[in-house]
Amino acid sequence: MARKKIVAGNWKMNTVPAEGVELAKSVVAGRSEVCECVNFIVCPPFTHLSQVVEAVKGSDIAVGAQDCATEAKGAYTGEVAAQMIAALGCKYVILGHSERRQYYGETSESLNKKMAQAYANGLTPIYCVGENLEEREAGNHFAVCKAQIEEVVFNLTEEQFANLVIAYEPVWAIGTGKTATAEQAQEIHAYIREVLRSKFGAAAEECPILYGGSCKPSNAAEIFAKADVDGGLIGGAALKAEDFLAIGKGF
Ligand code: PGA
Repeated sequence: MARKKIVAGNWKMNTVPAEGVELAKSVVAGRSEVCECVNFIVCPPFTHLSQVVEAVKGSDIAVGAQDCATEAKGAYTGEVAAQMIAALGCKYVILGHSERRQYYGETSESLNKKMAQAYANGLTPIYCVGENLEEREAGNHFAVCKAQIEEVVFNLTEEQFANLVIAYEPVWAIGTGKTATAEQAQEIHAYIREVLRSKFGAAAEECPILYGGSCKPSNAAEIFAKADVDGGLIGGAALKAEDFLAIGKGF
């Protein structure tokens, strides 16, 4: 079975609701120009998840959140529970994005709890891994990604693992305009799959592994052509419907 091809847009802390709805509608409007084989996901800020779910209704575009709480509900001021996200009609949640690891103290411990919350509420996690520049330059990128997977993904059941998307995002390539070469992406994607295989066996062949980090229309095709790259997690370029859709044409 061929692996799912996915192009997911991580809007980060961009767009007010009216802009987000507009962007989502433009993606819907242009969607038919891209192969049906591509699964598009948009991940707006919490504030307009429900309006974006409404805006993509009737299309095959899915909606995801950018994070969820470690706890199910209760006295956790400012947090958003996975149950709330799922209740809006979202199907995905990005977990472990490097910006959350770097700026908000996300750890494997909190991520294990968030993953459990996501699965308990029927959400598919898009679990992010990736090394920073120092780690890459020291040749530690394999070890960093392996640890991020072992400490979280290895705790999943086989059933949960069958419903997981992984995103490899080298921190040095995020928002910097620097992209990993297609060869660098393939090398580490193949390695990540090998790590997954050591725990989950043949099921690792089915797990989509997305590349993220300054992915854009001009480099998507070359990166997506690699055997173990199953799509992209797109930041900056996801904020323009035309570019986001053009990335989908990279398949
Ligand atoms: P970028 O962000 O495409 O703007 O580099 C990717 C991401 O952080 O998901």
